[in-house]
Amino acid sequence: MDFLKLAKDRYSVRSFSPEPITEKELDLILEAGRVAPTARNFQPQRIFVAKSEESRRKLASVCKFTFDAPTVLVIGYDKERSWKNKLMPPYDSGETDAAIVTTHMMLMAASLGIGSCWVGYFNSDDVKNALGLPENVIVTALLPVGYPSDTAEPAALHSQYRDKSETIENI
Ligand SMILES: Cc1cc2nc3c(=O)[nH]c(=O)nc-3n(C[C@H](O)[C@H](O)[C@H](O)COP(=O)(O)O)c2cc1C
Repeated sequence: MDFLKLAKDRYSVRSFSPEPITEKELDLILEAGRVAPTARNFQPQRIFVAKSEESRRKLASVCKFTFDAPTVLVIGYDKERSWKNKLMPPYDSGETDAAIVTTHMMLMAASLGIGSCWVGYFNSDDVKNALGLPENVIVTALLPVGYPSDTAEPAALHSQYRDKSETIENI
């Protein structure tokens, strides 16, 4: 598929079919995240796959945006592994790296016809405590994934873009 079409067609899916995606589809999505570029190739990302009722219930107790998806990817980085930019302390590239990984997975999912929604409205420590995640992990995003329900459709914000002149300039 043409990349720009994929990028434009992808939208935040917030209503999912209860049927989980297949293991093969999940593996492809995770593989797209695995090959994402990271600062100095340190690959600090950590991805936790929540598929069980119990994990998803725990997640839903600390984040109201899991949309009852059959699978939720919990994405973060290991602060002991991430690259620190000494020219700009205390800059830690972990969050950027994890964001690129998340983007790869989100677009891979879209290319397979699988819906997802990037979710940032949670507290990392709350998610860690609820799921018992390692202390050195910072959680940066949740990605509920699944087949879009029959009623799923793009929100109005999906196609509201600022004019290029507001975000791009020649210097
Ligand atoms: C960093 C980030 C955080 C987001 N957090 C949430 C969230 O907590 N809840 C939610 O429903 N959508 C969340 N979104 C989805 C955005 O609202 C959505 O991407 C934006 O409105 C554009 O719509 P589209 O994805 O359909 O193109 C988030 C997106 C990004 C990139």
